[in-house]
Amino acid sequence: MQPQAKTNLLLTRRLPPNVMARARRDYALVGPEPGDLPWPRERLIAALAQANPQAVLCAPGDVFDGATIAAMPPSVRILATFSAGTDHIDLEAARGRGLVVTNAPDVLTEATAELTLALILAAARRLGEGERLVRSGAWQGWTPTQLLGLRVSGKRLGILGMGRIGRALARMARGLGMEVHYHNRRRLDPALEEGAIHHAEAESMLSAIDILALTAPGSEALRHWLNAERIALLPRGAIVVNTGRGSLVDDAALIAALRSGHVAYAGLDVYDGEPALHPGYLDLPNVVLLPHLGSATVETRDAMGFRALDNLDAFFAGADPPDRVA
Ligand code: DGY
Repeated sequence: MQPQAKTNLLLTRRLPPNVMARARRDYALVGPEPGDLPWPRERLIAALAQANPQAVLCAPGDVFDGATIAAMPPSVRILATFSAGTDHIDLEAARGRGLVVTNAPDVLTEATAELTLALILAAARRLGEGERLVRSGAWQGWTPTQLLGLRVSGKRLGILGMGRIGRALARMARGLGMEVHYHNRRRLDPALEEGAIHHAEAESMLSAIDILALTAPGSEALRHWLNAERIALLPRGAIVVNTGRGSLVDDAALIAALRSGHVAYAGLDVYDGEPALHPGYLDLPNVVLLPHLGSATVETRDAMGFRALDNLDAFFAGADPPDRVA
């Protein structure tokens, strides 16, 4: 019997070794050798044309907007993204072209919730400032008033976006004795709520909390959701963290609030237009800045890659891929 020809797959990025090994085992990898960073749009379009793949596995930062999708060779039938988020893909354009798109949800829930909690603690306990002080060599020893932060135990946490990540964060926060509030499009079933207090209006949540965590995905509807008006509703001295998407925050408004002390501390893992970020953050001591590390654990990145490949396997076996988003 003739061995079955492997499906041609273009990887736009270098993936973790275990994921690369499985991709190489099961697919014919075509096109230029992928690197760590996204190809600029022209190079991506050229790579697609050169490779003529049946499938593409991409990642956040790759620009699959209407123009890129329109320029895809007709050979491409499915685009799987190595991410839960799909804001780098124009899903409408994909639907219009009959391109199947899948994401990789669920498997990054715990890692992203952990990172959100880490940012809350890092911001509240001033870990960035402490680390910089020790590394600078200027630390002269323990003092009763040095780098006093805020205790998070017993505080009120408000979560925007009570999806899987928000709910995992809520569970972790409860372990620290925090009271959990949330604002979501729909109120959750009580079993999923696990005692969290629902606010139908964002405004009512903002004035009832000490710490705000943004875990919602990016969308046009939520663009600059955290603006000057909403920040003003937070109590003075609040903490804000964002592990959802940078577009949720109006940076100028948050920077002004961090300068005035209305927001005492912030922790950010994602930025509007990243990897560029608003320069106003750079000289503020009271914000912890991370380079989009939410899902960055060995276990999670393997699981994300395997999930993307599971979707491709299902599609080419003639089944509906489990994580189809378009
Ligand atoms: C995602 O999957 O959307 C994350 O932001 C990448 O970790």
